[in-house]
Order: sequence, then structure tokens, then C-alpha cells
Amino acid sequence: MQALQHIAIIMDGNGRWAQMQGKARHIGHKKGAKNVRVITDWCAKHEIQFLTLYAFSTENWNRPKKEVDFLMRLLERYLRDEAPTYHENEIKFRAIGDIETFSQPLRDLIYTLESSTKSYTKLTQTLALNYGSRNEIARACYKILQANMSNGAQSPQEAVKALESTFANALDTADMPDVDLLIRTGGEQRLSNFLLWQASYAELAFTHTLWPDFNTNELARIIEEFHSRTRRFGGL
Ligand code: FPP
Repeated sequence: MQALQHIAIIMDGNGRWAQMQGKARHIGHKKGAKNVRVITDWCAKHEIQFLTLYAFSTENWNRPKKEVDFLMRLLERYLRDEAPTYHENEIKFRAIGDIETFSQPLRDLIYTLESSTKSYTKLTQTLALNYGSRNEIARACYKILQANMSNGAQSPQEAVKALESTFANALDTADMPDVDLLIRTGGEQRLSNFLLWQASYAELAFTHTLWPDFNTNELARIIEEFHSRTRRFGGL
């Protein structure tokens, strides 16, 4: 069986789910947030170690202000209401992305949940918030330059090789394994600036199911299919 430590999901299709039922887009986001809990609980029970969910991208600020404001309020409510379930299920919460741009109350909720759950060792659920791979990569470069990390390499090739691990350690995901399985709901087949470095060798699964309808049966089927694949990581 393939090792499956880290699942990442691009949760797409909330807006279309709502529109298909003649409802406003924000109803889809609300339903989508509820599904975050369902899928997270299933992963915890099935001994997945890392689940990383794309909840708000650096590009999502370009949506109408009303929708962005709703998503911010939803996130605040989610973190406040769901905090007890992280403790009940011993789930470690992490956030990746440029959190510093969020409002102080939202940042406080994020940091409080991160620090109060940091000793849990089962599932780490990571929400990618104001996250974009390019932004993360640029911030990692900035960190490296600031720290002036010289690696004493003998040749440019050695320097670049050494920089690969220095670089991985400067990313938001420094303490996480690479993504094994990346799932995108909602019918599109693209990565949309999500975990470009970390998903270099991930198996990809695309489904037409809209995120609010994505359920644990479909997740189990995708995982079963993952286990039937052969991963060679560029070797033979
Ligand atoms: C895509 O749907 C989804 C997002 C913008 C981000 C995902 C957000 C959630 C699941 C809800 C909030 C999550 C938490 C944890 C509070 P879309 O609007 O792009 O759908 P569309 O492609 O059908 O328009």
C-alpha cells in the first residue's frame, strides 16, 4: 500500500452549489464550512496525519467586497464555534499563508487555536488562509535573505542543492511532509497557486462534485484509487 500521510484539498464549487439551488453564493460557503468539519473528522478517524484545506487564497481578495466580508466573518465564526471540537478530537490546528494581513480579532483566533492545540499528535488540520504558493515562496526567499543563510557550499550546484532544503524549511509548511494526494472538487483541473512546491510529487484527483456535496464515501473511493497507483518519484 502507498503511504498516505498528507491529503490536500482545493474546496471548489460553493458558489455554484448555491446558485444551482437558486440560493445566494454565501449559503454555499456556509454549507462548505460545515463540510470542513465532516471531512476533517473522517480523516482523524482514519489516521490521516495531515489534511490541508485551501480556504482563502491570495487571489480571493479580488471577489466583491460583500463576499470577502462574508468569508472573513464565516472564518471567525468557524474558528470560535469549532474550537471545542479540535480539543474533543485532539486535532492540531495550523494556518499557512500570510496571516498578518487579517484583522486583529481573526489573527487572535488563529494564534489561540494554534497554540492551544499544538500538543495534539493525531491529525494536523491546516487551513490555507490568504495563501498563495507564489506569495509563500517569495516570503520564504525573503526570510532566507534576511537570515543571510550562507551554506558554505563549494560549487553553485552544491549551493542550489543545499538551498532546496534550506528553502523547504523556510516555507510555511516547514514541519509537514510533502502532499501525497491532492484533491480538487468542482470540476476544474488546475492547481490555482496551491502548494506548488509541496505537491511536486502528489497524486492528483479531480472530481466534478461541488465541495458542499463532497462526502466521506467519495473521499474513501479516491483514497482507494490512490492506493492502487505506483509512485516512482522520478525513479524506476
Ligand atoms: C470555492 O468556492 C471556495 C472558496 C472561495 C474557499 C473555500 C471556503 C469554504 C469551504 C468556506 C469557508 C471555510 C472555512 C474553514 C470557514 P467558489 O466560491 O469558488 O465556488 P464556485 O467556483 O462555484 O464559484
